[in-house]
Amino acid sequence: MIKIAVMGYGTIGSGVVEVLEKNRDIIAKRAGDEITVKYILDLREFPGDPHEDILVHDYEIIRSDPEILAVVECMGGVEPAHTFAREAILAGKHFATSNKALIAEYGPELIALAQERNLNCLFEASVGGGIPIIRPLNSCLTADVIEEISGILNGTTNYMMTKMSEEGSEFDEVLKDAQQKGFAEADPTADIEGYDACRKIAILTSLICGNQVDYEDIPTQGISGITATDIRYATAMGRKIKLIASSYKTENGYCAFVAPVMLAPGNALHGVDGVFNAIFVKGNMLGDAMFYGSGAGKLPTASAVVADIVDIVRHKNVSITMQWSADKMVLEDARQLSCRYFVRTTSAKDRIGEAFGPVQYVSAEGITGETAFVTEEMDGFAFEERLAGLKGVRQWIRVN
Ligand code: HSE
Repeated sequence: MIKIAVMGYGTIGSGVVEVLEKNRDIIAKRAGDEITVKYILDLREFPGDPHEDILVHDYEIIRSDPEILAVVECMGGVEPAHTFAREAILAGKHFATSNKALIAEYGPELIALAQERNLNCLFEASVGGGIPIIRPLNSCLTADVIEEISGILNGTTNYMMTKMSEEGSEFDEVLKDAQQKGFAEADPTADIEGYDACRKIAILTSLICGNQVDYEDIPTQGISGITATDIRYATAMGRKIKLIASSYKTENGYCAFVAPVMLAPGNALHGVDGVFNAIFVKGNMLGDAMFYGSGAGKLPTASAVVADIVDIVRHKNVSITMQWSADKMVLEDARQLSCRYFVRTTSAKDRIGEAFGPVQYVSAEGITGETAFVTEEMDGFAFEERLAGLKGVRQWIRVN
C-alpha cells in the first residue's frame, strides 16, 4: 500500500482525491500497488466532508511521517509551496505538483534536489491541464531539436474569447462564468493579463532548451485590451482572436512571447475553442505535432496529477531524468519575429500609406469613424517604427 499526502484541498486537490477514489482499481493495477491518501493538508476546515478525518493543518505531520512516499502539491502560488516542496524532497519524499508558478520559478532547483536523492519531481499538470505535454517533451520527442512551440495555454481566456466571439457576451460576464466553472485562477489577473500562459511557455521553453528561461524575460500581453469591436473585425475577416504563447528556436538561441493573435482558419490553433488548450510542436525531424484537450478544470488537471503519482509509484527507486539546468537561457528579442499586423486608426488612408506602404483595408458592418487595415509581413522592430509614424491608433494585433 502506497501512502501519499495531498497539500491543498481546493479545486485540484479535491479532484486528485476524487480521481484516486473513482479509478482506484485501474490505478492500482497500473501503478502496481494500491494508492491511498493518508493526509490532506489545508488551512481551512471542511465540516461534513467525507475526508475530514485525514485533514491536517500542520505540514510537519506530513514531512515527518516516514510512511508518506509522495507529497502532491495543489495549493498554487509560490510560497509556502516552495518551502514545503523543498522540505518534502529533503525528507526523502517524491513530489508532484500542478503549480506552474512554482515550477516556472523553482523547477530546476526542485528537479536537481530530487535527482540527487534518487527521487522524482513531476509536474505534468502545470502546463495544459490534462493534456500530456511535459512527458512527451521529456521522453517521446528527445530525438528532435524543437523549432517551435505555439499554444493556447490558458483555458480561461480561450473560453472567454470564444464566448465573446460566439455570443457577443461582455468581458466581465464571461469572466464571472469562467470563475464559477473553476477554470480561472484565484486572482483572474494572471489569466487575463497572460501571466499564467507566460509561466507555462517559460516551462516548455526551459524543457526544450534544457536551461532556465525566466518568465520575466518573456514579453507578455494579455486579452484585457481586446474589445468587442476587435472581435467583430476578426469575424468579418474569417479569423479568431486567441491568446497565444509561442517559443521559437532562432539561429543563436530562443525567443518567446505571449500575445493575442488573429488566427486564420488554416492555422492549427484556429479551431481550438472554449476551455480547450492545444500545443503545436514543430520538431526538426518530427515535423508538426499537436496536443489538444482539456487544459483546465478540476478532473482533467487532477487526472494529470494522478498520472504523475502513478509514475512515481512505478519509479519509486529511480529518478526519471529531466534536462533542465538552473543555468539561465538569455532569450533573444522576440521583435525579430515577423508577422502581419491588424491596426485600427482614426488616420486617413493617405497617412496610413505613408507610414506602412501597401496594406489591406478591412471593414466590419456597422463600424464607422475609423479605418482598419492589415500590414504586409514585417518584423517587430519595423512595425514599431512605422506605428510610431501613425496618429490616432486605437488598436493593433498580430495576424497569423
Ligand atoms: N487558470 C488556468 C487556465 C488554469 O485557465 O488555464 C489551468 O492552469
